Amino acid sequence: MNLPDYSLSADRVPVYEARTVTPSERDALMTDIAALLEARDAVLVAHYYVDGDVQDLAESSGGIVSDSLEMARFGRDHPASALIVAGVRFMGETAKILSPDKRVFMPTLDAECSLDLGCPPPEFRAFCEANEDRTVVVYANTSVEVKALSDWVVTSSVALPIVESLAARGEKILWAPDKHLGRYIQQQTGADMLLWSGACVVHEEFKSKALLDLKSLYPEAGVLVHPESPAAVIDIADVVGSTSRIVQAATELPNQMFIVATDRGIFHKLRQLNPQKRFIEAPTAGDGATCRSCAHCPWMAMNELQVLADTLNNPERMAANEIHVEPEVGRRAMVPLKRMLAF
Ligand code: 13P
Ligand code: SF4
Repeated sequence: MNLPDYSLSADRVPVYEARTVTPSERDALMTDIAALLEARDAVLVAHYYVDGDVQDLAESSGGIVSDSLEMARFGRDHPASALIVAGVRFMGETAKILSPDKRVFMPTLDAECSLDLGCPPPEFRAFCEANEDRTVVVYANTSVEVKALSDWVVTSSVALPIVESLAARGEKILWAPDKHLGRYIQQQTGADMLLWSGACVVHEEFKSKALLDLKSLYPEAGVLVHPESPAAVIDIADVVGSTSRIVQAATELPNQMFIVATDRGIFHKLRQLNPQKRFIEAPTAGDGATCRSCAHCPWMAMNELQVLADTLNNPERMAANEIHVEPEVGRRAMVPLKRMLAF
């Protein structure tokens, strides 16, 4: 079965301009949202890529800022009856699958992910059916329906050891949707992997030649790369890993400067933890780029303080931005997710 290219074309990627708020507006919004969270017995679970104020609020109100794996664990284990997931839709859906009895909301359900959009369930089902001898491993950046078709769900923090252990048992892998992450894991583990052809519109745009030029200007800088980036960019990295691995490496390595190839939202946490160090964005774009605002995910950018406040303040918006998962599909998706969390 020949797979078409499932990378998203630029016309399917929104342009999102975040609003600027004054310091006093920000303080008022944060106080307002913290009170609303408490009143609704809700906890805020945020990803490193969202607005820095939303990250700060998550931490100061008893929630978390983390990578996608920790977001899933934290939401599952927290006693609050409602989870507010500031990230993209698959993160909200994962929270709901793992905690079907909790109510899960997002600031806006418009927050998609190009990997999820680039892996339509009917086509993916056909791909699985055409390769029934393979163990199906899907990245967490997928819909509930795609997860329900899989044997394993993985995030970038655990993809390598999980595939390694499957390969050691002699299993052949069907991998979806990110071709770059899939290729990286294949190269690291030597596993027999058949790859879907999706890509992240942000990481896809990091450019190796421009990165090498930048590196020659700052030879002392460490290069930190998320594995959704193209192979030629990964090859230049000092550290390749999930968002939490990037945060950890920036803190632990002795370098005073880093070039970072991942969404720029992470710079908030990097600078907070390492105020004395310098962080530079890895170069992006060029002619024909599929991103509109490169190095920042337009869907992650939708998670603004004002949007969050508007949703929490308005029952109709709350209802419109609640995650619902069809129970039977959710039950099937829970199996590979739980396998990952137990790994
Ligand atoms: P992490 O699991 O590393 O947080 O990555 C999620 C993501 O969407 C990266 O683009
Ligand atoms: Fe998806 Fe890329 Fe945005 Fe991550 S950065 S949520 S992979 S589109």
